[in-house]
Amino acid sequence: MNASIPVIIDCDPGVDDAVALFLAFAAPELDILAVTTVGGNVPADRTARNGRLLRQIAGLTDQPPVYAGAAQPLERSLDIADHFHGPEGLGTLEPFEPSVPLAAGSSAEAIVDLVMEAAPGTITLAVTGPMTNVALALRREPQVAERLKRIVAMGGSRSEGGNITASAEYNIWADPEAAHEVLSAAVEVVMLGLDVTHQVRTPDAVIDTIRAIGTPAAEATAAMLDYGQYTARKWREGQEGPMHDPCVIAYILRPDLFDVRPCDIQVETISTLTRGHTQVEFRLAEGATPRHFWGVKADRDGVFDLIVSALRAQA
Ligand code: RIB
Ligand code: CA
Repeated sequence: MNASIPVIIDCDPGVDDAVALFLAFAAPELDILAVTTVGGNVPADRTARNGRLLRQIAGLTDQPPVYAGAAQPLERSLDIADHFHGPEGLGTLEPFEPSVPLAAGSSAEAIVDLVMEAAPGTITLAVTGPMTNVALALRREPQVAERLKRIVAMGGSRSEGGNITASAEYNIWADPEAAHEVLSAAVEVVMLGLDVTHQVRTPDAVIDTIRAIGTPAAEATAAMLDYGQYTARKWREGQEGPMHDPCVIAYILRPDLFDVRPCDIQVETISTLTRGHTQVEFRLAEGATPRHFWGVKADRDGVFDLIVSALRAQA
């Protein structure tokens, strides 16, 4: 199968980002133009290293290029989430210095250059961390908005409440101003928030199936999924950890595994108490053209079947 879907993956690896990357690296349909990293779960120097490290475990060398991105949110200081990802952002995986260096330039510069060089409406931007790089790219070149095919992002929450505070999901909470700027731009955004990612919880049996594939990428994926079970149990989020970020790649590959609804999404940037809250409004004005789509349903088994079959096919 030829790589027919050009994507840029902006991420903050991160345990679930790592599973999303291993799925993406193994999916022949994806033409990954770049992995652009951002400070989030762990500081930017570690997410940049992790992007390269995960690429190497997947058996890749210098393609796709990995870029380092924003170390701080647009206006706030970075609050990392290493309590969910481990100090290195890799769970229990022992980090090492990857052999291939970072690509030159920043994540925001790479997003602008790649989108402006490509035919309009062809590139999907997958976002699985705070939206800082995306906002910086839009500030640098506003035309990026109209030239992107769409953004598919993991972020926000409506009916599930929050995971970093009672009212906000981490990616949006970490940089609410960036999320506001991205959601205000003239680009379609499919937002897969906790309402769907909490439906995609890892069955223990799937971890055993993936580990049995035996490749380095499969073994690392199993280790990340195991860590997701550990943190879910540790933080009393249930027995099975939600796999947030792989939903973004799964949606790009198989949108039929999800139900999304047209809406208007606004982000709280003023209140301290509800910082990063996403107000998801389904009641659109008559005749309005929706720009935002909110995930309401996910096929958990379909998502994990996708991950297993992609890793198995790579073996
Ligand atoms: O709230 C979940 C999101 O925050 C995921 O992207 C996870 O990696 C963390 O960044
Ligand atoms: Ca993430």
